[in-house]
Amino acid sequence: MKTLESKFKKLEELNQQAELGGGTDRIEKQHKSGKLTARERINVLIDKGTFVEFDKYVIHRAKDLGADLEKFLGDGVITGYGKIDGRQVYVFAQDFTVFGGSLSRANADKIKKIMELAMKMGCPVVGLNDSGGARIQEGVESLAGYADLFHLNVAASGVIPQISAILGPCAGGAVYSPALTDFIFMVKETSYMFVTGPDVIKAVTHEDVTKEELGGAMAHNSKSGVAHFIGNDDAHTLMMVRELIGFLPSNNMDDPPIKHSADDIHREDSKLDTLVPVDSNKPYDIKEIITTISDDNNFLEVQPHYAKNIVVGFARLGGRSVGYVANQPAYLAGVLDIDSSIKAARFVRFCDAFNIPIVTFVDVPGFLPGTTQEYGGIIKHGAKLLYAFSAASVPKITIITRKAYGGAYDVMSSKHIGADINFAYPTAEIAVMGAEGAINILLRGATADERTKAIEEYNDNFANPYKAAEIGYVDEIIYPRQTRYKIIEALESCKNKRLNMPPRKHGNIPL
Ligand code: HXC
Repeated sequence: MKTLESKFKKLEELNQQAELGGGTDRIEKQHKSGKLTARERINVLIDKGTFVEFDKYVIHRAKDLGADLEKFLGDGVITGYGKIDGRQVYVFAQDFTVFGGSLSRANADKIKKIMELAMKMGCPVVGLNDSGGARIQEGVESLAGYADLFHLNVAASGVIPQISAILGPCAGGAVYSPALTDFIFMVKETSYMFVTGPDVIKAVTHEDVTKEELGGAMAHNSKSGVAHFIGNDDAHTLMMVRELIGFLPSNNMDDPPIKHSADDIHREDSKLDTLVPVDSNKPYDIKEIITTISDDNNFLEVQPHYAKNIVVGFARLGGRSVGYVANQPAYLAGVLDIDSSIKAARFVRFCDAFNIPIVTFVDVPGFLPGTTQEYGGIIKHGAKLLYAFSAASVPKITIITRKAYGGAYDVMSSKHIGADINFAYPTAEIAVMGAEGAINILLRGATADERTKAIEEYNDNFANPYKAAEIGYVDEIIYPRQTRYKIIEALESCKNKRLNMPPRKHGNIPL
């Protein structure tokens, strides 16, 4: 006869079985390859004791290719919700020890369920990817599962933050779900993403390339721009995910969480007064300004290894999250090119979707000239950044530290495309182009002396912020040491910003 005790025992056994995933041997293999298991990853990511698991007993329904001979509780993905710093998030973690974490119909349905719940409850979704891709035994059912997730990724875009950590293989069409999310984290040496792997590439293009070179963490963080963050190992990467979530609101109707610090909002730093060299050909590191002025000097840079001529990332000012976009004079003189335009445009779109004010630092000599850029479509890619800044309705504060030349002046969150408050340092130079270039065009046949004199005159008359300030294109010229408070004050003044735009289905960003 069945007793209550035996019923409870059965539940306990099933739980133990589910928690073992693909079994001890495969768990050992996972550890040996330098990776944590799906459950261990969730333990690192989620606040202790807050994870609630769904669908622990789900099994696949496949019959072909001997699939019915082997079933594992949970079917290769662990799903549920929990808290990060006390705030609710939904999470799925592919379990590589079960059919290589491959996606079955049942497995896709589990992920679908938590994504739908996350949208309904207005919480971020974090996906921990470690998978051999479509479950081969399930054929088109698996492909349909992927497509369902892509569809949901798009529906959730701009509604809840979606974050992907790639913690193992992620190949074929499977890469497109992370690609549709807002941020991608990868791990050094144990993660890779590609549409077609090295063997197919060898057969088709005869190129020899390793998995790591083709789709490793550094390839996507520095070359393709597909990934945004790189961690040293699973645990480090998951801690970075936690840090990022701390800057973000739970959904597009919420404001980002306020995190008060002891850092005085009035804090001045005289080092800033001399940081920007008067000689406009001399580089300096824009990140020094950013870290100096931010709360507790804390700055989470996004895509630090890609298109380094523009710096983007999150910090707090007076406890509130801001997104920085800044030309980097220390790299390619901070020029705007295809990669930096795309990088910054996507970041601006994210901030705008999630109510994060944008603070823009401008020191830009213009757009990068050359056939590579023109044939590569700098016109349409530069237009992305212009579009993104123009369309952003969150508070926008701009500080011109030095060069603001040509079209790049307009593009970099100028007053004309909707910035709310525009500051300039006394070192700012707002002009159509630099003095040398201008005099070369205006005085083609001039002698060396005439040129020197004309350059001096141009510098006096145009290479300063006062022409723009005279006509109200710059609201205030500030002492660099006061940057922190000036921005905090400006953001405070924009707190209740409202913009009314005519209704439309959606705009047509130059993709
Ligand atoms: C079913 C799979 C699987 C898959 C791996 N496994 N991939 N089972 N479907 N796609 C199983 C293996 O049979 C094995 O089972 C276990 O997972 C671990 O795999 P190994 O090969 O032993 O591991 P490893 O040597 O680390 O190699 C990992 C791997 C390799 C590189 C991911 O398994 C691999 O190449 N898998 C196939 C990848 C692939 O081509 N997927 C389809 C891509 S197309 P046992 O029982 O031995 O533990 C795609 C389309 C998506 O995904 C389309 C979306 C639109």
